[in-house]
Parts: sequence; structure tokens; C-alpha cells
Amino acid sequence: MSLERWKEVDDYYGKLLMPPDAVLQSALQKSDEAELPAISVAANQGKMLMILAQIQKAERILEIGTLGGYSTIWLARALPSGGKLVTLEYEQKHADVASENIKQAGLADRVEIRVGSASDTLPALVKEGCLPFDFIFIDADKPGYPAYFKWCMKLSRTGTVIIADNVVREGEVVNPDSEDEKVQGIRKFNEVVSSEKRFCATTIQTVGSKGYDGFMIGTVCGS
Ligand code: SAH
Ligand code: DHB
Ligand code: MG
Repeated sequence: MSLERWKEVDDYYGKLLMPPDAVLQSALQKSDEAELPAISVAANQGKMLMILAQIQKAERILEIGTLGGYSTIWLARALPSGGKLVTLEYEQKHADVASENIKQAGLADRVEIRVGSASDTLPALVKEGCLPFDFIFIDADKPGYPAYFKWCMKLSRTGTVIIADNVVREGEVVNPDSEDEKVQGIRKFNEVVSSEKRFCATTIQTVGSKGYDGFMIGTVCGS
């Protein structure tokens, strides 16, 4: 099986289930024009995140890693009116592109972008005593994942859903000798997740237009 076939299948289901969406297409185009890396989630993955947040009836969503706001828009669409999404981004330029895309999507009233390293903005959220989130999507720098997960646990309640992107990395995750800091970051993250007794998790490998990777998904099962 090849990337070409995975793309064909994504296209096939895309045509069936995902009507052309000018807002999301424009968000990708604006990100491209600003030369942001093309590493947002795929359309079918963004829609999966939206559906999961809807199932969770999430009113408060936290995202770590905004980029151009593509996954942010999908997630924010799951919110009821009065709901809120906080998204954390290190690069001012990415945040500026995302801000414009989120405004164009008509979601500026419910999305707050915080610029800075998540290793600073997550502790700041805890210090502020912010209310727990219902749904958290971790998708920033991979070496940061272990620490981000620990902060996310502090920003959670029993029942909070936490999802992490890119936990398979073309299968390299099984290589303990990998010299890729992203792979090593995910491996440390997996150790932290597996030793957290209050978290019940699984991982799903994915193939598609963005290649071979996977998601970790779990819920906080006790406080
Ligand atoms: N969630 C986005 C993709 C995020 S790409 C989507 O699917 O559309 C990862 C993002 O994390 C990049 O924009 C990168 O600048 C940001 N990032 C990298 N290091 C970070 C850090 N320490 N804190 C917060 N964001 C960071
Ligand atoms: C990378 C980061 C991502 O969030 C992603 O979805 C794909 C690739 C990366 O840093 O290589
Ligand atoms: Mg990702």
C-alpha cells in the first residue's frame, strides 16, 4: 500500500463526506502564502477532532500548537455559543496568520490565541487558576510533549479528553535508538502517559494524505 492509494481513499471519502469549505480552504491558502509549514492535520482528521469534541459536548477546549489555525477552526466549530477555545503558539508570525484565519471563520469571539512557549503559557494558565478544560489537543513541538502532558493533567477534570497528534512518526516510535529528537520526545511522552494512573489511553495508527502517523486519545479517569 502506498501514499498514492492512501491519498485516493482520502479523496474518495472527502468527496462523499466533506463538501467544499471556503473558510478552511482559505485558511490553508493563507498559511501557504505566508510560508508556514504544511503540517496541519488533514481535513478528515480535523473533522474527526470536531466530532470528538462534539461527542464530549466540550465547552472549553485547549489546543497546544496553533500554526495557521486550521485545526483550531475545526475544533472551535464544535463549541456551543458561549464556549471557549484557548490555543497556544510559540511563533508570533503563525499566531498572526491564525488570528486572521479565525476571524475570517467568524470564530474570533470564542478563540483566544496566547503567544509564547507552551512551557511558559501552560504554567501561566495553571497559576491563573483557569477552569479545567473539557478537551485538549496537543500538537506542538514533540520534545515538549512530556511536560505539556503533565501540565494538561493539571488543567483537566475527571472526564477530560486529551488527544495528541503525531505519536507514530512513520513507525519510528518503536526505535529506541532513533536520533530524531521528535521520536525521542514522543517516546518520553509515552512513558509519562503510561505511568499516569489517572489517565486511560489508547493510540491509533493512521494513514492518509499526510502519510503514516497516529493519534493518542484518552480520558482523565480520576482526580
Ligand atoms: N495544530 C495545527 C498544527 C500545529 S504545527 C494544525 O493542525 O493546524 C505545530 C505548531 O507548534 C507550530 O506552529 C509551531 O510554531 C508550534 N510550536 C513549536 N514549539 C512550540 C512551543 N514551545 N510552544 C507552543 N507552540 C510551539
Ligand atoms: C510535524 C509536526 C506536526 O504537528 C505534524 O502534524 C506533522 C509533522 C513535524 O514537526 O515534523
Ligand atoms: Mg501535528
